[in-house]
Amino acid sequence: MQEKNVETFLLLGPTILTAAMLGVTGVLFMGGRKSKALFKRAQRRIPGGVNSPVRAWKSVGQSPLFITHGKGARVYDIDGKSYLDFVCSWGPLILGHAHAKVVASLKKVLGRGTTFGAPTPGEVELAELVCERIVSIEKIRLVSSGTEAAMSAIRLARAFTRRNKVVKFDGCYHGHADGMLVRAGSGVATLALPDSPGVPAPFAAETLVAPYNGAAEVEALFAEFPDAIAAVIVEPVCGNMGVMPPVPGFLPALRRITQENGALLIFDEVITGFRVAPGGAQGLYGVSPDLTCLGKILGGGLPLGAFGGKREIMDLLAPQGPVYQAGTLSGNPVAVAAGLVTVKELSRQGVYRELDEKGGKLEEGLERVLTERKIAGVINRVGSMLTLFFGVQRVKDAAEARACDRARFARFFHGMLERGIYLPPSPFEAAFVSLAHTFRDLDGTIEAFADWARKETQG
Ligand SMILES: Cc1ncc(COP(=O)(O)O)c(C=O)c1O
Repeated sequence: MQEKNVETFLLLGPTILTAAMLGVTGVLFMGGRKSKALFKRAQRRIPGGVNSPVRAWKSVGQSPLFITHGKGARVYDIDGKSYLDFVCSWGPLILGHAHAKVVASLKKVLGRGTTFGAPTPGEVELAELVCERIVSIEKIRLVSSGTEAAMSAIRLARAFTRRNKVVKFDGCYHGHADGMLVRAGSGVATLALPDSPGVPAPFAAETLVAPYNGAAEVEALFAEFPDAIAAVIVEPVCGNMGVMPPVPGFLPALRRITQENGALLIFDEVITGFRVAPGGAQGLYGVSPDLTCLGKILGGGLPLGAFGGKREIMDLLAPQGPVYQAGTLSGNPVAVAAGLVTVKELSRQGVYRELDEKGGKLEEGLERVLTERKIAGVINRVGSMLTLFFGVQRVKDAAEARACDRARFARFFHGMLERGIYLPPSPFEAAFVSLAHTFRDLDGTIEAFADWARKETQG
C-alpha cells in the first residue's frame, strides 16, 4: 500500500495525493490498530512495552509501530503498511534490511550450529579484517554489544593507567554501564532523564563531564584532577545528541591533551565505525586513539561489538593479563558471519562516495525546503548520518541541541510517518541513509517533507 503512495508522490505531486491519502486512508495514519493492541499487551509483561526505551516513542507521543519484517530500505508493520526506513535499527543496517548476501551467509552458518563456547575460524578472519581497516587497532576483542565494548575499554584504561576517573562529553552515549549514565545522550536525553537511579554516587563521581567540542574544558579537568584521569572517551562524531560533528581541532586537541597527561584516548565508534569512512571517523579525521569501541555495523544486524587498540594495552586482558572480561556469546559465529559479509561488502569501490552523495542529496533537499518555507532549523551531517534540528541555527554541543524545537520535531515525525517515512522518534538521534535507499527514495522523502512543511507553515 505505502510503496504505491510514495510512487504517486513522485507522479501526481503533493496536493492531490495528500488529499487522497487523508481521504481514503485516514484510518491507516492514526497508527495501526494491531500495533496499538500489541503495545497494550506488551506493556503487561515488558516494562514500558519495549526492550529498549527509545522504541516506546515517548518523546513524540503515540504508541510505536510493531515491525514484522524489512527488505532493502523498507520496513513493514503488523498492520501491513510499509515505510522508507531512516532508523536502520539505529545504525547497523548500512546495507539495508535482509541483504541477500547477509541472508545467504546466515542460512549457511545456521545449519552448523549457533554457538560453541569455543574459538571459531570466523572470529579470526573478522579480527584480521578490522585490524586491516582501522589501523590504530593492533589487537581486538569481540563482545556482544556496544555497551560491553565501552565498559570493557574503560576497565582496561583504568587498569593500564592505574587511575579511576574518566572524562566523557555531555550528550554522548556509551551504552548503559553504570559510570556512563552521566549526562548521557540517546534515550537518556530523549526521555530527559538527568542520570539514572541505581548508579551508586561513588561510581558516577568517577565520571567527569565536559561539553562536546570543549577542548579547553577538558584541559581544565586535567589541571583540576592531575594524575587521576585514566581516559577520555568520545564519539568522534556524536550521534546521540543528534549528529554533532567535531569542530576543527577538537579531536587533535584531545589527542594532545591525553598524551601530555598520561591518559588514554578512547574513540567510541559504535556508530561511526564503518559508517562514515572505510577506516572509521579516526580515518576520516586523521586522529589515532589508543582504544576504539565498535558495534552496530560490525555485526551486520546481529548482536556484536568489539573493542581494540594498542597491543601493549590489549595484552592486559585475561587470559593473557589480569584484566577480566568475558562473554558466553562473545564472538558469536552467526553474528560474525553477518559482520564479515557486511564489512566485506563495504570494501567495494565507491561505497562511501555513494553514501556521502545520498546523504548530501537528502541534506540539500531538506535544506531547500526549510529555506523555501522559512522554517528555522539546521541540518548536521557526516556522510550517511544526519539530524535536522528545528528552531536553532547551530548545534555543536548538547546545550545547543537541547534548545531545539521539540514540539515541531514531534509534528514533523508524525507528518513524515503519515507520508510513509520512518524517522528516528527523537530529535536527539541520528537518521541513517543506507546503500539500499535509492536516489528516487530520497526524492520521495524530500517531496514528503515539502508537503509536510507546506501544511506546517500554512497552519
Ligand atoms: C556511540 C555508542 N556507543 C555505545 C552504544 C551502546 O551500544 P549497544 O546499544 O549495542 O549496547 C551506542 C548505542 O547506540 C552508541 O551509539
